[in-house]
Amino acid sequence: MLLKDKLKETKNKIDSLDAEIIFQEVLKIDKAIIYSDIKKEINKTDLDSIDLMVEERLKGKPLAYLTGKKGFWKSDFIISPDVLVPRPETETLVEAVLNENLQGKTLLELGTGSGVISISIAQESRDCIIFATDISIKSILVAKQNAEKFCCENIIFLNHDWNNEWLFPQVDYLISNPPYVDKEKTSGKEEGIWYEPEKALFSNDNGLSDLRLILSKGKNYLNENGKVYLEHAPDQYEELNKFALENGYLNFSNLNDLNGDKRVSIYQC
Ligand SMILES: C[S@@+](CC[C@H](N)C(=O)[O-])C[C@H]1O[C@@H](n2cnc3c(N)ncnc32)[C@H](O)[C@@H]1O
Repeated sequence: MLLKDKLKETKNKIDSLDAEIIFQEVLKIDKAIIYSDIKKEINKTDLDSIDLMVEERLKGKPLAYLTGKKGFWKSDFIISPDVLVPRPETETLVEAVLNENLQGKTLLELGTGSGVISISIAQESRDCIIFATDISIKSILVAKQNAEKFCCENIIFLNHDWNNEWLFPQVDYLISNPPYVDKEKTSGKEEGIWYEPEKALFSNDNGLSDLRLILSKGKNYLNENGKVYLEHAPDQYEELNKFALENGYLNFSNLNDLNGDKRVSIYQC
């Protein structure tokens, strides 16, 4: 079958961009080549691989789990079904932290997943030290692979559950994109999330339980003038601001993501 016919058939089934990414992945070619090689014949093995990926995509499996990678900030990260698929909203958190002068500073990331936050920061700021933790050892392994891929030697990965004792040194910046989805509010029809690790998504108490725990424990781990950077759902920021003020924080600011939703908050004692 010719590439052009298979591509047309695939684009009729799934999103055009997804189709192009699947073709790039299976045929190991760039997007431009797909269109210059349009009359190329596709072999049976590649046709079968394309069909399999399209079938999975139609069932709702995230494209990142099919291709094993996802673009975030300035790089392509290795992704597996053991980690959350990084979201573009999280780049707001990265951008905000990178606005700080990180030279010689220490950072603690709670819930690193694939490592996208810590690694994106470390790639631009090689002289800070980052402790990146996760409850999931499988996540830590993916994050370590990514850190090696991007030669980030200033990140120390730790397998840790934030419900247990924190044995970290005090840091200048505590950063986290914890689970914050309220399972009660999900309809079951959300695309993709049911393939992602539950622990990466859902939190109790209207999705606020882990955010609150990180704020309350975290303030004891901040150096003077230290700050907590948290990603959260847009409807959670007022509750979080209130909780922070009641728990010893003095200042806060709430940042919008690219959709104009309040997505990241910064807290300081
Ligand atoms: C929303 S994901 C964020 C992943 C990654 N930082 C990102 O932004 O793509 C939350 C992460 O927190 C981790 N996590 C959940 N509960 C945890 C706990 N009790 N202690 C440590 N990490 C936890 C999950 O395994 C998951 O990797």
